[in-house]
Formats: sequence, C-alpha cells, structure tokens
Amino acid sequence: MSLNQPRKPIRKAVFPVAGLGTRFLPATKAIPKEMLPVIDRPLIQYAVDEAREAGIEQLIFVTGRGKTAIVEHFDTAYELEHTMSGRGKQLDVLDATRIQPGNLVTVRQQVPMGLGHAIWCARAVVGDEPFAIFLPDEMMVGSPGCMKQMVDAYNEVGGNLISVLEVPREEVSSYGVIAPGAKVSDSLTEVTGLVEKPKTEDAPSNLIISGRYILQPEVMRTLESQDKGAGGEIQLTDAMARMIGQQPFHAVKFDGRRFDCGSKVGFVEATLSLALERPDMADEVRAIMRRLLAEG
Ligand code: UTP
Repeated sequence: MSLNQPRKPIRKAVFPVAGLGTRFLPATKAIPKEMLPVIDRPLIQYAVDEAREAGIEQLIFVTGRGKTAIVEHFDTAYELEHTMSGRGKQLDVLDATRIQPGNLVTVRQQVPMGLGHAIWCARAVVGDEPFAIFLPDEMMVGSPGCMKQMVDAYNEVGGNLISVLEVPREEVSSYGVIAPGAKVSDSLTEVTGLVEKPKTEDAPSNLIISGRYILQPEVMRTLESQDKGAGGEIQLTDAMARMIGQQPFHAVKFDGRRFDCGSKVGFVEATLSLALERPDMADEVRAIMRRLLAEG
C-alpha cells in the first residue's frame, strides 16, 4: 500500500468480549467481566466511549454464553426511562448507552479459543475494510483517547497500527513485545517484529502491545490459516507478526495511562485513580485513603 493512496476511514470496531474472565471468579460467574464497573460505568462503556470519540460508527461485539448483559447495556430501557421521567429524574445519565439503530452488531464465538479466533469470528461484518480492535479490560485514559491518537497516526501512515507502552524491562515477559524499526516521530515507530511473552533477555524492546489495534482486513485470512499458538489458543500477535513485511506496520506510543482491568490489582488502581479525578468524590476518597494508610 502506498503512503499516498487514499485511506479507507476506520468506521468499524471489534470488541472481543467472549472470554471467561477466570481471574475475577466468582464475580464473573454470572456477570461478564466487561460489565464490572469502574465507579459508575462498566468497562465496556469506557471502550465504547473511546471508540466514538475516534469517529467509529459500527460496534461489533464478539460475545459468548452469558454475555447478553453487555448488549442490553446498550439497549433502550423503556421501563427505567418511563419511571425516571415520572419521578422527574434527568435521563442524560443514560446518554452514553444509546447507540444509533443498526450500529451495534453481535457475532458469536461459541468456544473461547483465543483472542485471534474471537477477531476472526467478526470477519463477515468487518468485510473489506480496515477496522479497530478494543480489548475492553485494558482501560486507556488519555486526552485525546488512545484510539483517537491511533486514528490520527493512521491518517498519516495507513496500514496496520498497534498501541504500545513502555514498561520496565523485567515486566516484558507477561506481554506481547515489539521489535522497533525506523522512527517516524517521537510517538510513531515502524514495527519489524512481534514476540508474545518473551524471556526478559530475549525481548527485542521494552515496548509492550496494549489493547488497541487498527488492522487491515487481510488479517482475517492470516488468522484463518493459522495454527494454535501459546496456550493452545489462536493468537492475534502471531497473525500480526506474519503480516509484517507485507503491509506497513507501526506502533503508536500512547500518551496517557493504561490500567490492566483484567487483573484485580489493576482494577483497584483504575478505580482509585479515577475516583481521585472526579470532582464529585475526590475529596472524600482522598480522606478515606489517607485514613486507611495511616491505620496501616
Ligand atoms: P483475556 O485473556 O484478558 O480475557 O482476553 P479472559 O480470558 O476473559 O480473562 P481471564 O484471563 O480468564 O481472567 C482479552 C480479551 O479478549 C477476549 C476477552 O473477553 C477479553 O476482553 N477474549 C479472549 C475473547 O473474546 N475470546 C477468547 O477466546 C479469549
């Protein structure tokens, strides 16, 4: 793809939400992990808000058993709205949950066979367009949001993009890591390779893949022909690694903060950080935290 070719806009986003969320059991036995709230919004809502800020119109949820609450969250709750109106309550608190009719599509991943497989399940809806991917359990807080930063970079270089973060070297073995190539700017780097969970000494950098991607539709064909990778799952990182060299591939260093809400500690960190930034609760939460710390 030439850099001067007109780029197809990023209109679609895939949200893989079919995982089992085993790290949060028993909380996630009957409730999807993506519906766990950080303060007063479920994780999926933060990701959808970020997508909309980036101009994405169509939301594709890859769901599985027990995940219907995610879809219902974005439905109109007539009874609730009727009751609230009757009691003179403002309905604007529900505005973020409203989706243009026809812009929410669900596809099913019957068995959670890995992230790569979940993305592949969306192939018919993605069609022949570049698309975004959001892992909703990774909360990206920034202004502009992470995907907006990525779409801006996409408009510059096209092709495939992943969002990366710098971490201490000793932590890389838990993540997908990039091999960086030529720098386009301070925040944009070419990617020459990807490795899933490398040993610290083998890691090509300390830049880890975080949960946002812009990919070309050809990745679906790569996923289709792919064998199982680490953990017996079909890995997205392996499919992306196979596309490097065939299409432009860049990493965007996210200017913002990432919270790993797939882990308990990361979830608590996100909750506390966001609470300390909320004018309606910051003072009280700070006082509570001071008291708890003083009590040791
Ligand atoms: P995770 O591995 O973080 O989620 O996948 P998980 O498997 O639900 O969680 P644990 O490890 O058991 O606690 C990252 C994202 O990919 C989705 C998950 O729902 C999550 O949003 N996913 C993962 C799928 O949709 N399908 C899969 O087969 C695997």
